[in-house]
Amino acid sequence: MERREFMRACALGVVAAGAALPGVVQGEVEPRMYGRARLTDAGGAPLKSREIPADTNLIFHYPFAATPCFLLNLGRPVRQPARLKTADAKAYEWPGGVGAHSSIVAYSAICSHRLTYPTRDISFISYREERTPTSRHARVIHCCSEHSQYDPAGGAKVLAGPAPQPLAAILLEHDPAGDELWAVGTLGGEMFNDFFAKFEFRLAIEHGAAARRPAEGAIPVVELAQFCRQQVKC
Ligand code: FES
Repeated sequence: MERREFMRACALGVVAAGAALPGVVQGEVEPRMYGRARLTDAGGAPLKSREIPADTNLIFHYPFAATPCFLLNLGRPVRQPARLKTADAKAYEWPGGVGAHSSIVAYSAICSHRLTYPTRDISFISYREERTPTSRHARVIHCCSEHSQYDPAGGAKVLAGPAPQPLAAILLEHDPAGDELWAVGTLGGEMFNDFFAKFEFRLAIEHGAAARRPAEGAIPVVELAQFCRQQVKC
């Protein structure tokens, strides 16, 4: 199996957990597999990749009940893998988009700088199709806290700002027959332990004891505009 095909297979969840990773040198980051969870619409119907609107901020929670992620249809095939590094200089290869047109990507919505994330009250981080006065980049995930910007077509690599590493990628499996999507794991620098430690009090109020509950079964995907009362633009 070619390296690129293998990494796509990892992303599609068809490589058994614990399988050796050919071509990955010691010390590099391996995909981390969590529970397999089907992405659905707000009504519980399976989400079809062809029906996901382009350039629209969609949000779901994975791999835990309280950890938000962006689901984006970039509106064009994203088949080029990206070679990236975590903050501690461990390399990994993001395999590209999935779905019927290879245009669907997903990332943790927890900024790798100071862990800004979208809540039901407010969001300082979101995908922007257009350039803004504070960003010379279009089509980026922009965190308004200190203006870190990430390239969603490049594995969420850092384009600007103080972020020390890309957003962690969410690995998606696509079923071509049904055009359905599952979240299966993560790739890259996870921030979940820091996130739970930093926001322990707030998460306990919002989620009670369920904050760390694994996101399994069916996960609703909603527009950020519906999930969050106020989006900060910058
Ligand atoms: S928390 Fe996102 S740029 Fe600082």
